[in-house]
Amino acid sequence: MIYQIYPRSFRDLNGDGIGDLAGITSELGHLAELGVDAVWLSPFYRSPQRDAGYDVSDYCDVDPLFGTLADFDAMMIRTQELGLRVIVDLVPNHCSDQHAAFQAALAAAPNSAERSMFIFRDGRGESGDLPPNNWESHFGGPAWTRTTDADGQPGQWYLHLFDSSQPDFDWDNPAVHAEFERVLRFWLDRGIAGFRVDVAHALVKAPGLPDWHGLANGNSSEGYPGEEAPMFGQPALHDIYRSWRLILAEYGPDRILCAEANVDPLPRLAHWVRPDEMHQAFNFPYLHAGLDLGPLRSVITESLESLDAVGAPSTWVLSNHDVVRHATRFGYDGHGPRDGDGIGTEDPQPDEELGRTRAAAATMFMLGLPGGAYLYQGEELGLPDGIDIPSALRQDPTFARTDGERLGRDGCRVPLPWRADQEHYGFGDGATPWLPQPESFARLSRDLQASSGTSHLALYRSMLALRRELDLGRGSLQWAEAWCTGSSLAYLNGNVLVVMNLNHEPLELPSGAILLRSSLDVQGNQRLLSPGQTAWLQIAAKPAE
Ligand code: GLC
Ligand code: CA
Repeated sequence: MIYQIYPRSFRDLNGDGIGDLAGITSELGHLAELGVDAVWLSPFYRSPQRDAGYDVSDYCDVDPLFGTLADFDAMMIRTQELGLRVIVDLVPNHCSDQHAAFQAALAAAPNSAERSMFIFRDGRGESGDLPPNNWESHFGGPAWTRTTDADGQPGQWYLHLFDSSQPDFDWDNPAVHAEFERVLRFWLDRGIAGFRVDVAHALVKAPGLPDWHGLANGNSSEGYPGEEAPMFGQPALHDIYRSWRLILAEYGPDRILCAEANVDPLPRLAHWVRPDEMHQAFNFPYLHAGLDLGPLRSVITESLESLDAVGAPSTWVLSNHDVVRHATRFGYDGHGPRDGDGIGTEDPQPDEELGRTRAAAATMFMLGLPGGAYLYQGEELGLPDGIDIPSALRQDPTFARTDGERLGRDGCRVPLPWRADQEHYGFGDGATPWLPQPESFARLSRDLQASSGTSHLALYRSMLALRRELDLGRGSLQWAEAWCTGSSLAYLNGNVLVVMNLNHEPLELPSGAILLRSSLDVQGNQRLLSPGQTAWLQIAAKPAE
């Protein structure tokens, strides 16, 4: 099980209001106790922080905001003591406009070696004042920005699939390959266990950069362009990842590459994890299926079939730093918010308790599945999204680029509550945290939950311990049809029956020892599973269909 740390919001040890590497090191013991196998760190590299560190200006250094390379090494030593592996985020599609290579490209002439590291083009129209094609940025607005030449005249345009401060590299250029091979080795030499590869589907663009009339909005559940999108899923990507896999193999058999690849459909995603490519890919269709049981069941079946076919493990994920936390998404009856767009005080409000109850059920359903699971910091506390965030404090570029129409992803990035009675709930004891923490964090802080036998955290601990003990991650799945009604879903993993009840009525559980249920404080008839709950049962033989 891989636990995602979002460094800005994990723990602020030097009191400047922003999480840091020393803060991570100081709390890693809690993650080991929780039962985490590996941590994945979102970017902590040098960066102007225009996209919370996904705009990297130096790939081989730590941003002073987060500490130093020595802090990184100290963190590595602590993870080794605790038996935790470390995966770092690699951002190869684009860098920051402050990266030395992009600054050199701006200063150089069109068609120079410097410019060829990026995607510079002349504009369309008589005076070149129209962008080279019609592509849109994932964060809203055009995907091209025009430069100004040294003489003050308008110059060429450069491509940025994300913010204008994030120019895309040109992966047709071998010098870009060489640079990233150096970056891979730099971190592998420091002892990391692998990389989570940011927007792994976008590095290579179709020749000629043709116009595209589909949606380019990479952060919505309905908008992923299909096979034909010229900026996604191009065949040449696979050669890049094959070459990286060879580099990882030089460091031993246990280093991994995990793709953030928004490619549909699942059989196509499976191409990314063929034996000589990436080891894992995030399962966004699973995240987007949410609690829609029909789609959820199809996604699971299809994931296992497609990934089994290439010998790769399926992966499961419900929350990350780009989507509304699942404890909030599931707090709506009917359709909740669009995943990447956040919720504000003007929007319909979630029911926090309902959301947390269903989130526990959904996670318990997920953690019974065979394959790899990814958890996002704070979900073990059942944290909701931050909703009451004043506009002036919102930092996701999506907010500014859409004039506030899309609130963006700040809500799921609110700093963690560690200790109820300390300032800022123990996130840091200095400056105000970079995003405001909701008042409910007082009740949800880790210390309070750690001392309760029935808390969300207690449930996560039990789930992870049992998952490990029963080796569920390496099991297999068979649907248990008798409990798959319209609003309940059940499967067998070995002799463990996992049942999730989304009916409005309690569900009678079959005979068999109840190993765990998602509400630890359930009273009364133990054989009834209440609405919005999941149970794991050990059964002797296959139940009747
Ligand atoms: C990925 C990251 C997201 C970032 C984007 C651009 O989708 O998860 O946070 O904004 O890439 O790097
Ligand atoms: Ca700090």
